[in-house]
Amino acid sequence: MVQNNGDAPRSAARPLSLETLAVSAGYEPSEHGGAAKPPIYMTSTFVYESAAQARAVHQAFFDGDVPERSGKNGYIYARLDHPNLVMAQTRIAALDRAEDSALFASGMAAVSTVAMSLLRPGDSMMHSRSIYGGTDMLLHTHMTEMGVTPFGFTDGVDEANMAAVADAAMAKGPLTLIMVESPANPTCAIADIAMISRLADRVALAQGRRPIITVDNTFLGPFLQSPLEHGADLCITSLTKYAGGHSDFMAGSVSGSAALVGRLKKLRTLLGCHSDPHSCWMLLRSVETMKLRTDRAVANAQTIASYLRDHRKVTRITYLAFLAEGSAERAVYDRQCAGPGSTFSFDVEGGEAGAFRFLDRLRLLRFAVSLGGTETLICHPATTTHYAVPEATRAEVHIGPATMRVSVGIENSDDLIADLAQALEAV
Ligand SMILES: Cc1ncc(COP(=O)(O)O)c(C=O)c1O
Repeated sequence: MVQNNGDAPRSAARPLSLETLAVSAGYEPSEHGGAAKPPIYMTSTFVYESAAQARAVHQAFFDGDVPERSGKNGYIYARLDHPNLVMAQTRIAALDRAEDSALFASGMAAVSTVAMSLLRPGDSMMHSRSIYGGTDMLLHTHMTEMGVTPFGFTDGVDEANMAAVADAAMAKGPLTLIMVESPANPTCAIADIAMISRLADRVALAQGRRPIITVDNTFLGPFLQSPLEHGADLCITSLTKYAGGHSDFMAGSVSGSAALVGRLKKLRTLLGCHSDPHSCWMLLRSVETMKLRTDRAVANAQTIASYLRDHRKVTRITYLAFLAEGSAERAVYDRQCAGPGSTFSFDVEGGEAGAFRFLDRLRLLRFAVSLGGTETLICHPATTTHYAVPEATRAEVHIGPATMRVSVGIENSDDLIADLAQALEAV
């Protein structure tokens, strides 16, 4: 039976929509005893049918640059591949409109595997600034110690600025990778993926090799942004956030061409950072409601952001729908994104003391890192998620002592506003 991965719908003549793929892609009941929902294959190893089949399945996995899709030939060992991993990867690939996807134990496992697979000593690379604190730390500690030189760019919309950073990077070593995070954590800074793709073409002419472009799509997810359709080579997502959606497990994904994703799967086998059967099963269940949760959270965020923007004690807000009409960022946002998402940051009066008084007064909003859950989460990036980012870098991208990041959930928005209102009184 052909797997329903979006390219080969069983009965429909037209391609299935993302909402439908979120419920159906990657799982075919007739292949699993008719079970309407995916069983969990809680096993670390798989019994070979014969010595010849054992050799064939190893050949298929290890010969060549890209491991052949397991399942077709049987499985070997869960660190290499397992049935729930194949189901979840097929579903995420369909949502990301990609040829293939690799799932990892966390978003950082995905980011680290990309960096370690694609970068070599002597290479240079470019990355968004601001970027998630863990990614920043990986690039500026471990990858730097491995002989890679990272170049941050703060304005991913300005072509001349990006070209200047690319020239500086190429002067240091081959520019191999451009890691974009758009919208960026926590500032919501937007980068123009199509423009960066054109820049990569020019870099290819200059140095004889095209840098690979990755876009971290964690803040918006597949229903609000499809980076591959705008020219990215790989789409990275922390599935821990909106895809998981309930703050109760961790996973990450990288989607793109079968050739590139295959390289990552080979390294994943060696690092052992695959997503386990239970997490894959949780993910399959969670993404079924992702569109509903996304719509509700986006509507709530619009209400909360409008309330905060109009509050006299709020001095700054980075909600994407408030980008100024006529600005370069607005033009990129309108072209690239289908909505503003539900995570943004804002500043209050009174510096760190004001922010701390506000946070300590909240009752309903949960003061915790992470985002994308059904519950509204709020944190103070300078002292939590971006603690390890140097203060000067934080200041450059406006992550200040009074900046808070909020991920709006699916609760009743009046309840959320009542809590914000009483906490703002403490500022
Ligand atoms: C934009 C972004 N990318 C990657 C990560 C890392 O994901 P994980 O926490 O699943 O390792 C995060 C985590 O907050 C994130 O916000």
